[in-house]
Amino acid sequence: MKIYRAGIIGTGFIGAVHIETLRRLGNVDVVALTDKCNAKETAEKLNVPFFFSDYKKMIDTMDLDTVHICTPNNTHYEIAMYAMDHGINVICEKPMCTTIEEAKALVAKAAEKGLVGGINFHNRFYPMNNHLKNIIQDGELGSIFSITGNYTQDWLLFDTDYSWRLSSKESGNTRAVADIGSHWMDLAEYVTGQKIVAVNADFSTIHAKRKKPKKTVLAFSKETFSEKDYEPVDIDTEDNANVLFKFSNGAIGSAFFSQVIAGKSVDINLQIGGYKKSAEWHSMSCNQLTIGNRDSYNETIEKGIATVHPDTRPLIAYPFGHAEGFPDAFKQSFRSIYSHIADPSGSYEHATFEDGLHEMILCQKIFESNQKQGWVGI
Ligand SMILES: NC(=O)c1ccc[n+]([C@@H]2O[C@H](COP(=O)([O-])OP(=O)(O)OC[C@H]3O[C@@H](n4cnc5c(N)ncnc54)[C@H](O)[C@@H]3O)[C@@H](O)[C@H]2O)c1
Repeated sequence: MKIYRAGIIGTGFIGAVHIETLRRLGNVDVVALTDKCNAKETAEKLNVPFFFSDYKKMIDTMDLDTVHICTPNNTHYEIAMYAMDHGINVICEKPMCTTIEEAKALVAKAAEKGLVGGINFHNRFYPMNNHLKNIIQDGELGSIFSITGNYTQDWLLFDTDYSWRLSSKESGNTRAVADIGSHWMDLAEYVTGQKIVAVNADFSTIHAKRKKPKKTVLAFSKETFSEKDYEPVDIDTEDNANVLFKFSNGAIGSAFFSQVIAGKSVDINLQIGGYKKSAEWHSMSCNQLTIGNRDSYNETIEKGIATVHPDTRPLIAYPFGHAEGFPDAFKQSFRSIYSHIADPSGSYEHATFEDGLHEMILCQKIFESNQKQGWVGI
């Protein structure tokens, strides 16, 4: 069995999840990590043999098969380009980068070099979302006419909450949309097989100014400081986005993306309306799927080998009753991407660089729609 040599770039919140999850695959060695801050301490804590503060040095010296890009969005493009120019496959966190032009260049580079580029839209890999995709494909819900939901969080509610994500320079020109809306839109399109063809968006920002800590804080940190340890900054990205959608089959949709709804740490909801049945998935009970019936009782399907669509079974690692959640979805996303690297001719479920480009286009069009306050075609 080939053992892949992986290097992780960025070891904040999500980089550490990548390291932990990759170790569960069995065919990936995390041989090195890079972080601008505390690389040595993180490598010791996570037992990674080599560490760097400059990703170029890691790529130049570590004979890697893959890099995982887990840094702020505005660094993804240059890191992915450098890796692919050195013949290395790329697993990139979402959003793929910060502009459509960068995303197009990354798609072209992966094709030119014959490399795999994967985007970690991991919500596809909750077994019940894959099951939903398969039963929709089989026609169980009938034709789909509505796709609605939300992705809400609360970690940026207070004006003392701060992250690189708040600045359009680091995040890209949308924040709630690119950071969490991209997950919802990828999931909605993946399970229904329909593409978003037009958007109509309205944004709001509840804190036009925030208090930025003078020292760096990790994403999702609830650390607070005394008044003198903050500096005021203007905020140029949205806290809330309300978006209407038109889908390729004529279905209509809507979603609310927010990072300031108290009590919602990570709350994703997807509701699908079909001519025969409806379906609803909720991240807070991710091992369940509710099927709505008009003339009979509603059904709640629990994740299990016997309860899911036969094509979903490979995504289930543990028996009925053992929950599989966020890190398990990451594991399945990475397993799919590494299988693609091993056999480029197969067909896989993960999001590709092409999907990453599509999401970048959606984010940009949503941004333009909010500016224009009207419908924008994709
Ligand atoms: N798939 C998901 O569910 C998910 C969840 C969270 C974050 N993300 C994505 O992961 C990325 C990172 O987010 P995060 O929450 O981990 O952020 P974070 O701020 O917690 O961590 C980012 C890390 O990158 C390091 N870094 C910054 N620039 C660097 C560079 N040039 N070279 C090396 N290291 C650098 C920082 O020091 C920090 O440790 C973002 O693109 C985000 O959208 C995805």
